[in-house]
Amino acid sequence: MIGRLNHVAIAVKDMAKAAAVYRDTLGAGVSEAVPQPDHGVSTVFVTLPNTKIELLEPLGADSPIAKFLERNPDGGIHHICYEVDDILAARDRLVAKGARVLGGGEPKIGAHGKPVLFLHPKDFCGTLVELEQA
Ligand code: CO
Repeated sequence: MIGRLNHVAIAVKDMAKAAAVYRDTLGAGVSEAVPQPDHGVSTVFVTLPNTKIELLEPLGADSPIAKFLERNPDGGIHHICYEVDDILAARDRLVAKGARVLGGGEPKIGAHGKPVLFLHPKDFCGTLVELEQA
């Protein structure tokens, strides 16, 4: 059911510093920061030949990544995103298999303008999983 790895998301406290690490030290192509007020984060995309890295910085008072950064003050891998052809069919299959879909199970529009869902880390090897409609 899952397809390509769309991105790996890394939460950071200091976006300018993180973007500089990817741009200047690692030599990658790095986008401008884009505020995503609906998701409580700002994002920078690092484009690699086979996938993307999504840098996430908290935006606003109750950002969903604030607690993660309290536990991981140096930053860390926050989630991985797999593509699916049909997000509603994927959700229904996962629910039928007993997996927990976060946020009531209705897809939201994600950082790339496509519908996304998040899956409970306890059901997926301790990793928060994002599904994005391809
Ligand atoms: Co993501």
